Amino acid sequence: MCEIIFSRIFLGFHVLLLWMAGGLAHAACPLELNPPRLVVRYGDSVSVNCSTSSTDHEGMGWEATFGGTSLEQDVIVVTWTVKNLTDWTIQPKCYITSADGKQCLETFPVILYKIPDRVSISVLSHSGPMVEGTQYQLQCDIQNIAPLQNLVVKWYKGNELLDNVTYSNVSKRPEDVSATLMISPSRDDDGDQYRCRAELDLGPEGPQPHPTVTSEPLNITVHYAPEFLPGNDTVEVSAGSDVSLDCSAEGNPPPELKWTNNTAEGNANEITVGRLRTLNISRVTANATYNCIVTNSLGSITKQIHVLVDVPPQQHPTMFSTAPSTPETMTTLPGTAKPKLVTFSLELNPPRVVVRYGDSVSVNCSTSSTDHEGMGWEATFGGTSLEQDVNVVTWTVYNLTDWTIEPKCYINLIDGEQLSIVLPVILYKTPDSVSISVLNHSGPMVEGTQYQLQCDIQNIAPLQNLVVKWYKGNELLDNVTYSNVSKRPEDVSATLMISPSRDDDGDQYRCRAELDLGPEGPQPHPTVTSEPLSITVHYPPTFSRPEAENLDIRVGEEITLNCTATGRPTPLYRWQSSDFQEALFTPPSEVPGTYTCTAYNQIGKISKTFTVNPKPKGDRTTFWVIIGSGLGLAIVVVIVYAIVKYRAGPNSII
Ligand SMILES: *[C@@H]1O[C@H](CO)[C@@H](O)[C@H](O)[C@H]1NC(C)=O
Ligand SMILES: *[C@@H]1O[C@H](CO)[C@@H](O)[C@H](O)[C@H]1NC(C)=O
Ligand SMILES: *[C@@H]1O[C@H](CO)[C@@H](O)[C@H](O)[C@H]1NC(C)=O
Ligand SMILES: *[C@@H]1O[C@H](CO)[C@@H](O)[C@H](O)[C@H]1NC(C)=O
Ligand SMILES: *[C@@H]1O[C@H](CO)[C@@H](O)[C@H](O)[C@H]1NC(C)=O
Ligand SMILES: *[C@@H]1O[C@H](CO)[C@@H](O)[C@H](O)[C@H]1NC(C)=O
Ligand SMILES: *[C@@H]1O[C@H](CO)[C@@H](O)[C@H](O)[C@H]1NC(C)=O
Ligand SMILES: *[C@@H]1O[C@H](CO)[C@@H](O)[C@H](O)[C@H]1NC(C)=O
Ligand SMILES: *[C@@H]1O[C@H](CO)[C@@H](O)[C@H](O)[C@H]1NC(C)=O
Ligand SMILES: *[C@@H]1O[C@H](CO)[C@@H](O)[C@H](O)[C@H]1NC(C)=O
Ligand SMILES: *[C@@H]1O[C@H](CO)[C@@H](O)[C@H](O)[C@H]1NC(C)=O
Ligand SMILES: *[C@@H]1O[C@H](CO)[C@@H](O)[C@H](O)[C@H]1NC(C)=O
Repeated sequence: MCEIIFSRIFLGFHVLLLWMAGGLAHAACPLELNPPRLVVRYGDSVSVNCSTSSTDHEGMGWEATFGGTSLEQDVIVVTWTVKNLTDWTIQPKCYITSADGKQCLETFPVILYKIPDRVSISVLSHSGPMVEGTQYQLQCDIQNIAPLQNLVVKWYKGNELLDNVTYSNVSKRPEDVSATLMISPSRDDDGDQYRCRAELDLGPEGPQPHPTVTSEPLNITVHYAPEFLPGNDTVEVSAGSDVSLDCSAEGNPPPELKWTNNTAEGNANEITVGRLRTLNISRVTANATYNCIVTNSLGSITKQIHVLVDVPPQQHPTMFSTAPSTPETMTTLPGTAKPKLVTFSLELNPPRVVVRYGDSVSVNCSTSSTDHEGMGWEATFGGTSLEQDVNVVTWTVYNLTDWTIEPKCYINLIDGEQLSIVLPVILYKTPDSVSISVLNHSGPMVEGTQYQLQCDIQNIAPLQNLVVKWYKGNELLDNVTYSNVSKRPEDVSATLMISPSRDDDGDQYRCRAELDLGPEGPQPHPTVTSEPLSITVHYPPTFSRPEAENLDIRVGEEITLNCTATGRPTPLYRWQSSDFQEALFTPPSEVPGTYTCTAYNQIGKISKTFTVNPKPKGDRTTFWVIIGSGLGLAIVVVIVYAIVKYRAGPNSII
């Protein structure tokens, strides 16, 4: 059989080579194809000669879905021609019928290819900047490519080839293909461009260079959390000299830097916000620790920098730090060579304020320094201009309504240096309303069931000073505080679980929102209490004596059976085999027996049995009455007999 096996199992390029080697082994069929095989672009023209060395044949021709010929006699060449090859599965065959009537044929191997309409790159399930060390999947979408087995997808970062992917799937028709690449970018990859390229490697017969379509580049941004660059965390300086603290850090996005002074109790921190990576302090006099906080969207890190001040041995240590080291006090030295001691302070009076929203406030900032260039207040409201030749500046606001205000008193020293102190302000607001309700329930409660009470507090600030108190009558049941910090007013809901008993019927629950603003805050604490919530507690009937009762009854005596039970709602009663419907039942006299009563309400029912027994017969009194009356009758008979005997005479017959 002289048929070339056009294998449907191409396995990439080496299989293509095998296929081409196999194409030469067909000596038995006297047909030769020229060219022996073709790689054709979809829609291109094609022309193949089939020639024979045999001179005595009955005819030859091409059999194909397009471009087939009729059986031609007396020729040695037939040509298969298609102007526009668009049949993906075409398998043209050249055949010859020999003089003895035998036919042999040879299939012409043709590979039809098509470059993709579009190649695009994207990040799967992600948009925006990437984070260092996280895995992402890049996807390369290749539209309408054929044949799949000749496709090589190449991944590039810049010009560096990262990976190439081939497909073992065999497909003659065009397909959509998606290739993926896992990446875990590092900070150095920030700004890198990824590309993917679809290449058709169609073997030596195919076009050179390989037909290629490359995606648009994908620019990636790689973010990473801040990191400190190496730097000293302890700086030694001599007293009165200047010091520069280094807190250089890197990160993407570029981190924000914040210095906080952590030397004193910590509340009145001086804060410098900005991108400065060094903190210059002039004329250091006291040992101090500075915190430098570096933050970007991925994290925050803190470094402590200690400033150690050497005291020269010839100077007495008490010459320095004469001012108390409270956060409101700052000490500085003039820059003269001879250490002349000048102590000054900035003092706030009052040192911190608690103000009701909309109230007025006034704080004095005073200094003991007499030679300064001016002082003033910096604030969103009530700020002052720089005032010279004064020792006191006052910050006043008539209607304080800025929830986040941070007024700062500053002083400009003669050498141009500025010192400042921030006034801690707590602005508070009592709630607009405080209301109590039962969650997911209305109407009476049932004993032993759990209910959730909710306290809704509207528009309160600050949250961290709120105490929610729960009361039953005047008894404090629970108090709740909040760790959430919020300067602006918020709505808050507190809940309390209760499981009421029958004794709680009619009790009143209340919740109270209290603002505990510390010793500087108003006393007593501003408080808003909810309306009371009265609860009704239902419970099933119960007997004070639940056990069955046995009662004796004398003939003709009347007895009352007491089936009274307690319960809420008030129980109703039912007596077995009777229409009677009250708690107290008088059975018909002389009818001993068993009486069962049931007390019931909406919550439950309970039954009790009364057994009424007649008093036993053979009573002593009756006995003696019977004996006595028997004796009397006998005496009467004897007397009557004696009288009759006497009247009739001794011989008369009775
Ligand atoms: C096919 O044969 C014809 C003449 O017989 C010749 O002109 C043509 O160039 C040949 N084509 C190929 C592809 O060899
Ligand atoms: C080839 O055939 C296809 C489909 O039949 C058609 O869309 C295309 O225009 C043709 N091209 C030429 C060059 O005739
Ligand atoms: C690409 O594929 C070839 C073989 O097909 C291989 O030798 C080469 O290492 C591959 N390159 C990469 C970057 O994977
Ligand atoms: C290749 O074949 C496998 C198995 O038949 C299939 O899961 C996969 O989707 C195919 N790939 C393409 C690109 O068609
Ligand atoms: C990708 O980066 C290049 C060079 O940095 C720039 O020219 C191009 O506009 C960027 N493309 C996108 C989509 O941001
Ligand atoms: C750290 O401090 C020492 C001594 O104060 C100094 O010699 C050194 O240069 C400093 N290193 C850096 C990185 O600033
Ligand atoms: C930190 O506090 C010290 C005194 O405790 C003071 O001298 C210094 O100016 C403060 N620095 C900053 C940046 O707040
Ligand atoms: C801070 O100190 C460093 C070194 O002591 C100096 O180079 C720099 O100019 C100073 N910066 C400012 C704003 O004073
Ligand atoms: C700072 O601390 C060091 C060591 O703890 C000490 O020797 C030095 O006297 C201190 N300086 C001041 C001004 O207190
Ligand atoms: C205070 O300011 C608020 C908001 O600006 C305003 O609603 C309120 O009436 C003002 N109160 C007084 C007493 O001026
Ligand atoms: C209320 O809170 C205080 C402390 O915050 C606690 O000592 C007290 O026991 C609490 N009272 C109740 C009833 O939970
Ligand atoms: C019935 O019993 C209840 C309690 O069990 C009691 O309070 C009530 O007085 C009794 N009634 C009579 C009529 O004895």
